[in-house]
Amino acid sequence: MVGPARENLYYQGDSIVTMAKHLIFSEIGLSMQMTKVPAAMRERLLRSAREVMKNAYAPFSNFRVGAAILTSKGQVFLGCNVENSSYGMTNCAERTAIFSAIAKLGPEVEIRAVAIAALANNDHGVPCSPCGACRQVIYEFGPRAIIFYQGKKGPKQSLIADLLPEGFRLK
Ligand code: THU
Repeated sequence: MVGPARENLYYQGDSIVTMAKHLIFSEIGLSMQMTKVPAAMRERLLRSAREVMKNAYAPFSNFRVGAAILTSKGQVFLGCNVENSSYGMTNCAERTAIFSAIAKLGPEVEIRAVAIAALANNDHGVPCSPCGACRQVIYEFGPRAIIFYQGKKGPKQSLIADLLPEGFRLK
């Protein structure tokens, strides 16, 4: 599916609770600006995630993942999963992208959005929401970030705060 029909799926993915939250936030005047990413940017991020996915090193799982992050200043950083013979050393695509952004820009980076693409058994539509570890890392640098990913029933968008309620903060 391409074009507007496909794009609308993202909005259908919004739960009633998420939509209600948006309404309440705008009612009380809290800016939800960070959660608004234009459709063209969302598509660009997803395309970039699919492209960088080709660089994944995933000989053990054969589950290739690409991630694109958008900073609040509009820069885009990419990452793929990098596995290891010592399995626990594996780095997910999302964290690769985030660490690359920090390496380039320093610790003040603010994540506005993350797009994720995955490929397994030649299936591009394979569901892949960020793993628990990546949710915590996204939250550290973007507590209001929006995540674009493939859910079990199709493309979805979720706030990181909904994917990771009560994310940990040291300060
Ligand atoms: N993986 C990611 O890169 N991102 C995710 O959000 C989920 C999992 C990777 C880790 C491992 O290389 C492979 O997918 C299978 O778990």
